[in-house]
Amino acid sequence: MKTTISVIKADIGSLAGHHVVHPDTMAAASKVLAEAKAQGVLIDYYITHVGDDLQLIMTHNRGELDPKVHETAWNAFKKAAEVARDLGLYAAGQDLLSDSFSGNVRGLGPGVAEMEIEERVSEPIAIFMADKTEPGAFNLPLYKMFADPFNTPGLVIDPTMHNGFKFEVLDVYEGEAVTLTAPQELYDLLALIGTPARYVIRRIYRNDDNLLASVVAIERLNLIAGKYVGKDDPVTIVRLQHGLPALGEALEAFTFPHLVPGWMRGSHYGPLMPVSQRDARATRFDGPPRLIGLGFNVKNGKLVGPSDLFDDPAFDESRRLASVIADYMRRHGPFMPHRLEPTEMEYTTLPLIQEKLKPRFKKESDMYKTKESVYTKGKSAGESQD
Ligand code: F6R
Ligand code: MG
Ligand code: MG
Repeated sequence: MKTTISVIKADIGSLAGHHVVHPDTMAAASKVLAEAKAQGVLIDYYITHVGDDLQLIMTHNRGELDPKVHETAWNAFKKAAEVARDLGLYAAGQDLLSDSFSGNVRGLGPGVAEMEIEERVSEPIAIFMADKTEPGAFNLPLYKMFADPFNTPGLVIDPTMHNGFKFEVLDVYEGEAVTLTAPQELYDLLALIGTPARYVIRRIYRNDDNLLASVVAIERLNLIAGKYVGKDDPVTIVRLQHGLPALGEALEAFTFPHLVPGWMRGSHYGPLMPVSQRDARATRFDGPPRLIGLGFNVKNGKLVGPSDLFDDPAFDESRRLASVIADYMRRHGPFMPHRLEPTEMEYTTLPLIQEKLKPRFKKESDMYKTKESVYTKGKSAGESQD
C-alpha cells in the first residue's frame, strides 16, 4: 500500500511578535491530530515549528489532497488559532484566510507539501522548513542537491543517479508548469529558476524511473489573497539515499547561506541560516530567514525520528557566514538591493508617496528654462563626443 507524507503549515499567531510559535498552540493542534490518528485518518504525525510557522507532518494512506486529511489540518490550525486568540498572541489566525473549509486547504492560506510514495525497504527522508522567506528560496539548494556534481558527487559516481533528475518548474504568475531534464536542459533550467520569485521548483523526479524525489510547498499567499498577507514560508520534503542524494549531500546544499527574499516585513533580502530546532526563532530584524531540517525514516507510514539535522557544529561556519552577510546587508538600510524591488515587497507605501509627491515634480524644461531636459541634453552631448 502507498504511503502519503503530508506537511501542512500555517502561521496561526505567535509569541512576542512574528517570532515563535507558542507551545500551547502546538498542544492544541496535537490534540486534533491525535484524534485523527485514533480514528485511523492518520497513521502518524509529528508537530514542530520554525519561527512563527506551525508545521504539521502527517502520514496516511489516503493520497494527496485528501479532504479528510486536509480538514484535519484545517481543524488543527483553527483550534491552535483559538488558543492563540485566548493568549493574545500576535497575528492570531493570520494564515487562515477563509472562515470555512472547502475540500482541501489549498488557496485557504496554509502551505502544503505532499507526496504519495511506494515506500522503499528503508525510506529515509528530510523535511526542510523555512521562516521569513518564500518557496523560490529552495530553488538554489534543490538545484545543488539534484543537479550539481560539485555538491552531489553521486551524480557522477553513483550509476543509479548518473542519468540525473527532472524538475517540474511552476510559473507562479501564469499558473503554468514546465518539466526540464537535467543534465540535458541544465541551462534552460537555470535560466528559469534563477528568477525564483516567478519560477519555482515544485517537484523533482529521477530520470531513470520517474521516482518522485522531492516536493515543495508552493502557495504564494500574496497572489492567493489578491493582496499581500505574509510571506509563504516554504517547506520541502526530500527522499534520500540509494540512488537519491545522500543525507549529507542534501545537507551540503544548505552550507552556503544564499540570499533569499523575505526577512523584515517580507521586504528584504537576507541570508538563509540553517539552525537547530532550538534556534528556530525569528529574532534579529525578524530573522535572519531561518531553516530547520528534520530527518526521519518512514516505515509502514510510521515516522521514525526525527533527527535535528542542523543541530551540529558542522554548520557553525555557515551560521557565522550568515551573520556576517546579515551585517553587510543591514548596512544598506532602506536601500536596494537589501530592500526588495517594489513589486516584491510585502509592505509598501511607495505608490502613496509617489502620488503625494506627484504635484511637486517639475518638468526639467521648466526648471532649467530650456526646451530640452538636461538629462536628454547631457545624453546627446555625450553621444556626440563618442
Ligand atoms: C515578515 C514578518 C515580520 C512582520 C513585521 C511587522 O514576514 O512576519 O517581519 O512583517 O514584524 O509586522 P506588523 O506589521 O504585524 O507589525
Ligand atoms: Mg508571520
Ligand atoms: Mg513565518
